[in-house]
Amino acid sequence: MGTSVVVCIKDRFGSAASCAAGGGVALADLLEQELARQGLAVPVKRLLCFGRCNEGPNIRIAPGGAFFTAMSRERLPEVVAAVQAALAAETS
Ligand code: FES
Repeated sequence: MGTSVVVCIKDRFGSAASCAAGGGVALADLLEQELARQGLAVPVKRLLCFGRCNEGPNIRIAPGGAFFTAMSRERLPEVVAAVQAALAAETS
């Protein structure tokens, strides 16, 4: 099964914590651009809620990979590294 990245872009509006409120939409776009720039053919899927809204923005490597909470632009290299590791595991 192929590796993908799942980014929560849910906006719960009002005062409720959500990944969109923390910049999840932009993180998905930036991650997509960075993966493409590095030639990593991995889809970035937008999800509406992992059920961990207070910890967001949240990103998961699928299937069954690392789960990143409190994500920021500065930490996107961590996700890229996890994608590289997942791709390496796929081919080993
Ligand atoms: S809004 Fe992202 S986990 Fe719920």
